Amino acid sequence: MENFSPDVLISEEEIALRIDALAKAISDDFAGQELVVVCVLKGAFMFCSDLIKKIELPINLEFIQVSSYGDGTTSSGSIELKLDLTGSIAGKNVLMVEDIVDTGLTIKSLFEIMELRKPKSLKLASLLFKPDRNVHKMPIDYLGFEIEDKFVIGYGLDYAGRYRELPYVGVLNAGN
Ligand code: PRP
Repeated sequence: MENFSPDVLISEEEIALRIDALAKAISDDFAGQELVVVCVLKGAFMFCSDLIKKIELPINLEFIQVSSYGDGTTSSGSIELKLDLTGSIAGKNVLMVEDIVDTGLTIKSLFEIMELRKPKSLKLASLLFKPDRNVHKMPIDYLGFEIEDKFVIGYGLDYAGRYRELPYVGVLNAGN
């Protein structure tokens, strides 16, 4: 099995500092209210886990998983729901948590599904955003980092199913 050595793009410390700021903003925005946090599997598991530890609100954690099909660089793709929420979100404050918004297809499609369920509010937190590849424009209410169009791994993000466990966001470079 190949064993690349990733370069660090965003360190563990930088991520932790940014999460502190995002969690404070979320806690302030929803002060006195409850929040349903929806972790979009698999990639968001680590970001979501660290984020909710810092949010000072009563949280109901849910998971959702989708598969995307078609050419991810165009607007013609579609998604299939693989794992759904366990409870109703009607009338509730919902925060979707993603690891990365790339073309935007996944989160746009997920928002369409969630809106049909009539939440009180629907917001998005994403650790990463790649503006160069974005097709489906979605406002990211709580953004960690805007990054260049590089293949990123670690901190939940995979390459062929590997590297999700790395505590930092890295890039795989040919030759190392
Ligand atoms: C990744 C990522 C986002 C999506 C972003 O998921 O976690 O959900 O792609 O891409 P988009 O903006 O172009 O739709 P992936 O399908 O790789 O599944 P995973 O999270 O299980 O790795």
